[in-house]
Amino acid sequence: MNQDTLGFIKDSIKSIPDYPKAGIIFRDVTSLVENGPAFSATIDLLAERFKDAGFTKVAGTEARGFIFGAPLAKALGLGFILVRKPNKLPRKTIEQSYKLEYGTDILQIHVDAVDAGDKVLIVDDLLATGGTVAATVSLIRQLGGIVEEAAFVISLPDLGGEAVLKNLNVNITKLVD
Ligand code: PRP
Ligand code: ADE
Repeated sequence: MNQDTLGFIKDSIKSIPDYPKAGIIFRDVTSLVENGPAFSATIDLLAERFKDAGFTKVAGTEARGFIFGAPLAKALGLGFILVRKPNKLPRKTIEQSYKLEYGTDILQIHVDAVDAGDKVLIVDDLLATGGTVAATVSLIRQLGGIVEEAAFVISLPDLGGEAVLKNLNVNITKLVD
């Protein structure tokens, strides 16, 4: 990937100290999304990376995973699966609880969103502890989907998420760390 473009994307992400709690450095992708050329370059890089890779669907996790996952799915010509926080999805769902860097939560997926054998690319803005993506992997695999790859705009490698994904046999693409 082009290093100048990656540097431009990295520089567009602001770091906010002590948000939402003392000791957390919040990597704020909203500043990237607010920057048209940076947002466009991010989706273009991911689309170039995954075009012709044989995926049948893209999945993204609420809320920031939607921002990057939906335009990537469109660019790849694929359907987009919404993995959501509780009580947002209207059809039959399964759910998975998980731990966050600063709390716990539950994720749900429609049971008919994944067909057995679907090759699903997971997309999220940021990888921290890996709790969110591990729950997303689990939901898709419970429905018979194949998950071998997850893509992030930014990874915080010190927080352990990359090791979590390695243990789940999921490859990582990250643009920035
Ligand atoms: C953030 C981020 C990732 C997750 C990463 O979402 O968008 O989904 O945390 O953290 P982890 O690797 O430790 O699980 P958050 O739950 O804050 O929700 P939001 O996207 O709705 O803001
Ligand atoms: N989600 C979990 N940890 C985060 C962090 N440090 N910055 C932004 N989003 C996050």
